[in-house]
Amino acid sequence: MNFEYYNPTRLIFSSGSLKRLGEVSVQYGKRALLVTGGGSVKRNGVFDRAVASLEQAGIAVAECSGVEPNPRITTVRRGARIARDEGCDLIIALGGGSVMDAAKVMAAAHYYNGDPWDMIYHGQPKPYLPTRALPVITVPTLAATGSEMNMGAVISNEETCEKSFVQAECLYPVTALVDPELTISVPQDQTAYGICDIITHVTEAYFNGVDGTPVQDRFAEGTILTTIQYGQRALADGNDLEARAQVQWASIVALNGWVNAGTNGGFPVHMIEHTLSAYHDVTHGAGLAVVNPAWMRFAARHRPEKFVQFAERIFGLRGKDADNLDCALEGIKRFETYLHSIGCPTRLSELKIDDTLITRYAQDTLRIIHDKHGNLPGRPPLSGSDIEQILR
Ligand code: NZQ
Ligand code: ZN
Repeated sequence: MNFEYYNPTRLIFSSGSLKRLGEVSVQYGKRALLVTGGGSVKRNGVFDRAVASLEQAGIAVAECSGVEPNPRITTVRRGARIARDEGCDLIIALGGGSVMDAAKVMAAAHYYNGDPWDMIYHGQPKPYLPTRALPVITVPTLAATGSEMNMGAVISNEETCEKSFVQAECLYPVTALVDPELTISVPQDQTAYGICDIITHVTEAYFNGVDGTPVQDRFAEGTILTTIQYGQRALADGNDLEARAQVQWASIVALNGWVNAGTNGGFPVHMIEHTLSAYHDVTHGAGLAVVNPAWMRFAARHRPEKFVQFAERIFGLRGKDADNLDCALEGIKRFETYLHSIGCPTRLSELKIDDTLITRYAQDTLRIIHDKHGNLPGRPPLSGSDIEQILR
């Protein structure tokens, strides 16, 4: 286990902190592009409160609203244009992962004369890796992706049916202003999909990473157990602020590089889900709920001992031996049952996807990312027919 850890994002985690947005932002600029989604922040008053705080600090606000879930490259281009035309020197993302991801790529596009789609890894020989971006402040309104404190962004291209990622150090937000009160209005289904996303970020690293990471294993298990425990409360009562806060903190650590430091694994479940989203505009966490247990069943046969550990430490099961496959599979079944119990789909049919395009999903996933043998990186590496088998 050898690694470097770097995360330059300042994290302000505090209920009621939205009112500090202006004070926090003013050191980075005087003209902000405020990026938002399809309207939730306008309906619940958060947008007006954000603008009031910015204006009070003397920051002029330009707006880019309408970022869609599974944000489109066309929206990124539009936002980048507004930022240029309005002379913005700072970008504020007020919304879920889609808004934050779009805002990050708009920020990098500011210093790039080509098409921002060049930055997104989609099988081209050499994606353009951005090295400079406008400062981004993230104000998440949904606990799920951890985008507020990481260097990733995921963007879709409707024309080419592709959805993929960019990762670059310049995309780390300068500050994440996290106010758990903003997540109170998230409906039950999105809350459940967020929970699935958080857990899947952790399980990807846990199961695909290198051997010999006991500290990360315990971080991961603690994050999963906390998400299940407080997620249950947030689902039962969306106004339970403590539960919302714990889930949101879990969402941040799950993907800010800390829990998975040094694990160095692929994210095969995410890569497969991104293809489903690209074709069918699936909600990310819902797609993961379908793919993750199916992937686990496939992978458990190759590495049963790690799945036995998961079954024992998360669901309190006892394997007869450290590599007892029955115990591993029982743990996966419990996980799948849990996802279903909180309202996540666990079958493609529940996403209204049939099996006619399964071969194409596998090929497209591999076109976007593959190792030198042409397989999807992970433990085990997956061939096209492996991916098909998982999806079936
Ligand atoms: O668009 P609005 O009107 O704001 O409504 C959104 C949207 O309909 C709604 N919502 C958000 N906050 C709300 C709220 N509704 C009521 N009250 C609130 N406070 O929730 C819906 C989903 O929003 P979205 O931003 O799409 O969800 P999420 O945060 O799950 O983000 C998903 C996107 O992030 C990408 C996914 O692939 C997907 O495109 N990911 C980004 C990652 C990253 N940057 O690190 C990693 C992830 O694995 C993921 O791939
Ligand atoms: Zn995810």
